[in-house]
Amino acid sequence: MADLRSDTVTRPTPAMREAMAAAPVGDDVFGDDPTVADLEAHVARLFGHEAALFAPSGTMANQIAMQLVVPAGEELLAGADAHVVTYELGAAAALGGISTRTWPSRGAALDVDEIVAMIRPAGYPSVPTRAVAVEQTHNLGGGSITPLETLRRLREATRAAGVSLHCDGARIWHAHVADGVPLPAYGELFDTLSVCLSKGLGAPVGSLIVGSAERIARARQLRKRMGGGMRQVGILAAAGRHALDHHVERLAEDHARARRIAEALEPFGVVEAATVRTNLVMLDLTKAALDAPALVARAAERDVHIAVMLPRIARVVTHLDVDDDDTDRAIEVLTGLLRAA
Ligand SMILES: Cc1ncc(COP(=O)(O)O)c(C=O)c1O
Repeated sequence: MADLRSDTVTRPTPAMREAMAAAPVGDDVFGDDPTVADLEAHVARLFGHEAALFAPSGTMANQIAMQLVVPAGEELLAGADAHVVTYELGAAAALGGISTRTWPSRGAALDVDEIVAMIRPAGYPSVPTRAVAVEQTHNLGGGSITPLETLRRLREATRAAGVSLHCDGARIWHAHVADGVPLPAYGELFDTLSVCLSKGLGAPVGSLIVGSAERIARARQLRKRMGGGMRQVGILAAAGRHALDHHVERLAEDHARARRIAEALEPFGVVEAATVRTNLVMLDLTKAALDAPALVARAAERDVHIAVMLPRIARVVTHLDVDDDDTDRAIEVLTGLLRAA
């Protein structure tokens, strides 16, 4: 079976399992787990920040980070199709009391002037804007990448306005590999980042919040409040460290396979291959005879598994456990179904 639903379906490799089995552990809520401490220090260093905190999921990492930069009752700006807006089940409002206002969906393509014009300063009878959140790479935007230059302009403008900048960097590794931007060049732009080890890198669990030492100390409290304090979790941190050491540069292979799938499907009018730069391929079935649930169900009958994102949007994802044969099989099945529809 070829499982291209998500880059989270990977299973730990034998070498990763060995690293997990060998990891020294301790009670991390007491700060006793050396493998977690090592991973946190490593990830902070990778982005040129002072500190980082291990969290069980990307959603929790985003929510903690947003609570760090937006007090309850105040405002976050984000894209309408951002993960923090679309797929975190209202957590910013429900857990953090955060009011969110969105700019129109454009994936990773940001209009800096439009975002800056939305910022409302404190001291007026309106909700003050405290932070802007961007997503790198952009999930619903088909793994698209915001160029470094655009992010730099947004950083300058938000700094001038006294507003924090958060990056949902669940797949920032993919942008780093595709665009060749060094991780510290991303790190210096953001007050807080969330990064994931469980998406494409092959770790079973794990995300980190990255920021200043002061913010990360507060993040530790917020994580405990949310029930995210974990005990002998070095077993998982070891998997994450192994993923970072061995599975980042190989993401280029996933990107090439995704591009190959997109090129094969382009003649059916469901994707523009040139826009596929990383490992996510969004199929726009608006003009196709099959909707997303029908395409997904028929592909599954042929043992090729892809995901429904919206009624007319399906997603095909390459990752560590998708090889060239799986890619060929996915192309054969999906082109066959689209041709027959
Ligand atoms: C861009 C982005 N941010 C955050 C998350 C949340 O991660 P998790 O599923 O670990 O909560 C995801 C999940 O796929 C994602 O794609």
